[in-house]
Amino acid sequence: MTKYVIRGGKPLYGTIEISGAKNAAVGILPAALLVDGVCRIENLPQISDVTHILNILQELGADVRTVNRTTVDIDCSHVRNTQVPDALTRKIRASYYFIGALLGRFGSAEVAPPGGCDFGSRPIDQHLKGFAAMGAEVDIKNGLVRAVAKDGRLTGTTVYLDMVSVGATMNIMISAVLAQGTTIIENAAREPHIVDLANFLNSMGASIMGAGTDVIKVRGVDHLSGGSYSIIPDQIEAGTYMAAVTATGGEVLIKNVIPKHLDCITAKLLEMGAEVEEQDDAILIRRTQALTHTNIKTLPYPGFPTDMQPQVAACLCLADGTSVLTEGVWDNRYRYVDEFRRMGAQVQVDGKIAVIEGVAQLTGAAVEACDLRAGAALVIAGLAAQGVSEISQVQHIERGYEDIVRKLSGVGADIRVVVTPDEGQAVQAG
Ligand code: EPU
Repeated sequence: MTKYVIRGGKPLYGTIEISGAKNAAVGILPAALLVDGVCRIENLPQISDVTHILNILQELGADVRTVNRTTVDIDCSHVRNTQVPDALTRKIRASYYFIGALLGRFGSAEVAPPGGCDFGSRPIDQHLKGFAAMGAEVDIKNGLVRAVAKDGRLTGTTVYLDMVSVGATMNIMISAVLAQGTTIIENAAREPHIVDLANFLNSMGASIMGAGTDVIKVRGVDHLSGGSYSIIPDQIEAGTYMAAVTATGGEVLIKNVIPKHLDCITAKLLEMGAEVEEQDDAILIRRTQALTHTNIKTLPYPGFPTDMQPQVAACLCLADGTSVLTEGVWDNRYRYVDEFRRMGAQVQVDGKIAVIEGVAQLTGAAVEACDLRAGAALVIAGLAAQGVSEISQVQHIERGYEDIVRKLSGVGADIRVVVTPDEGQAVQAG
């Protein structure tokens, strides 16, 4: 078993470099299936979700060549297989993008429903509704989603999403690139990774307009050809380190970011008492004074991101007064609260609302990461707490954070990885 052991209570000082955006990478890599020729993808984060997607591409017959730590060349010209192995799709949420990509390229896809973090029910009905509107026959049988375009190729149409969905927006966009005619996605999501996916596809020859607004127009083309593309920096990774500094105090320069993408996070950290200085592609964050309570509601972009909710909750546990968090995206994203309580936090949850009474200090404890961002929040709580915390189930964290232990150690955190091969025998892994 792998654990992170943290001795908390130390402010953070130094510089952290942000990696490529997970939620852009996990859409762009499957979309490489649409490209006839070699596409070079740069600034890929080294995280297990990316490894899983690259494995699926290879299983499908793609030629994947590592150029360096953050760059791969992918050639899908010889892919003929349209069935994604079940064992691989269950490991990650983003495996649903293979439905859109295979359907768009070959007119047929067979993919097991996706896995990923457990926030209650996570339907993909809007994705499937979009494919059906474009002329696919879609059914779910024997645990597989099967989608087949009636004439071998999807046909462009207008798709109105019943709710703002990142995954449905990206999946329908991917499937529409090689369709006959024009597809319009109404009530589309506007996250930075949606713009990044559109920029990637356009750079390979697609014709997508309006990404970043709530109406996206995809004019179908016959062919995409190879090229190279660099993924944007990860907004949520940057926000997580900003929250860490807000919780512990100190001063850290966070490099390789797009400050505009962080506005929604910065605004709330400022209200809590952090100081933020924007530079061209970096953010300097400092926290010297006591933290103040605030209220936050998570919403689709440009609202406050749900993927930052647990991390700011860790800060609010230490803020003066009462804060109210409202989760506006997922049904059940407070599963981490019991673990916070083990560290002395005072949080009450009622449905989508969490009320946090700030305490003077958290105390180290043995806690378990239940999902990716919950795990990151426990790391933040552990860094700010007095004493030693042990965080288990860190594979959830490593799905989405490249080298989190090295990056935090580099700014003075006392955090190390401990691998326990069996009961009672601990081995230090750095
Ligand atoms: N929804 C439906 N039907 C659908 C699609 C979505 O009812 O067909 C609902 C969901 O149940 C949810 C809301 O719509 O209540 C929004 O879901 P969305 O589709 O936007 O989520 P997603 O695409 O599955 C992505 C990220 C999540 C992030 C959400 C919201 C990926 C792989 N995942 O999920 O990221 O929380 O958007 O921004 O891009 C994370 O990185 O930690 C993470 C969970």
